Amino acid sequence: MLDVSVPQAELTRCLKAAHSAGMARQQIGRFLRAGYVPQPKQMMFHAAARLADYSLGPTLIAMGGARGPGKSHASIEQAGVDDCQRVAGLKVLFLRKVGKAARESFNDLRRKTLTHVAHDYREYSGLLMFPNGSMILVGNFLREDDIDKYLGIEYDLIVIEEATQLSEDKFNKLRGSLRTSKLNWRPRMYLTTNPGGIGHAWFKRLFVMPWRLAQAGRGIETDTRFIPANYKDNVTLSCESRTILLIPHQHGAVVQPPQRRTLYDHRRNDKCGTHNRHRSH
Ligand SMILES: Nc1ncnc2c1ncn2[C@@H]1O[C@H](COP(=O)(O)OP(=O)(O)OP(=O)(O)O)[C@@H](O)[C@H]1O
Ligand SMILES: [Mg+2]
Repeated sequence: MLDVSVPQAELTRCLKAAHSAGMARQQIGRFLRAGYVPQPKQMMFHAAARLADYSLGPTLIAMGGARGPGKSHASIEQAGVDDCQRVAGLKVLFLRKVGKAARESFNDLRRKTLTHVAHDYREYSGLLMFPNGSMILVGNFLREDDIDKYLGIEYDLIVIEEATQLSEDKFNKLRGSLRTSKLNWRPRMYLTTNPGGIGHAWFKRLFVMPWRLAQAGRGIETDTRFIPANYKDNVTLSCESRTILLIPHQHGAVVQPPQRRTLYDHRRNDKCGTHNRHRSH
């Protein structure tokens, strides 16, 4: 029995959904104990992350789509609450694009996601250390050249946020830094992104096309898994913030141009009564 403060009916529903999504029992237990109740698309992401443990499983797992579905939240939970806790001494690089809205600063996300997980965060060096020796190095990039300082070092896991802001060359160099000496770990990458950017084409080729072919029953995803999501997949967003995400904003931070939020979007109404007029492509 899990000792978590979630109403029993909700807990049962969550456990069933997690099981159907393919999440590992121990994984969902960890999340609930950490106070995290993943949402359906996040569950798919976590299940794919655990598939990477198997020799024929994917090693590149991406969650993509328009603003706010919980991509960052899920990737920190997966890396910090699941992976870093179950494998001692794990070395993770967590790459983030700087200059994002303050609402999504790393510290905010860390407080939301790791409150119930013992850790020590040194903001000046971007090092997040866990008692079992696992660590996450939070690396920031503004331009993709900023990433060079993280190359040449070996990481067991690399998380790239805003992955389509990187060229294919930079992405491949980062892949080259994925290596492990641990017998109980398979190196892997988790990527999150909003559509668009210089890396749009390689991301689409590598992740979106195999996913589409699989959806159409004309192929399978092999080394990759793609989980499309949008703001409607995040029930934690209030109706007000959903509306804000849809309104083009003068000051940059929350701009959601229609063509960017429609890449993986499906035509449907959401609970807040907003309607997406565009189709996915
Ligand atoms: N399962 C969850 N439980 C509680 N809060 C959540 C959950 N998933 C996401 N959130 C919260 O929803 C908000 C949006 O999530 P997040 O920042 O991860 O979205 P995102 O997809 O990374 O957005 P963006 O496209 O802007 O990068 C954040 O405040 C996050 O903490
Ligand atoms: Mg994010």
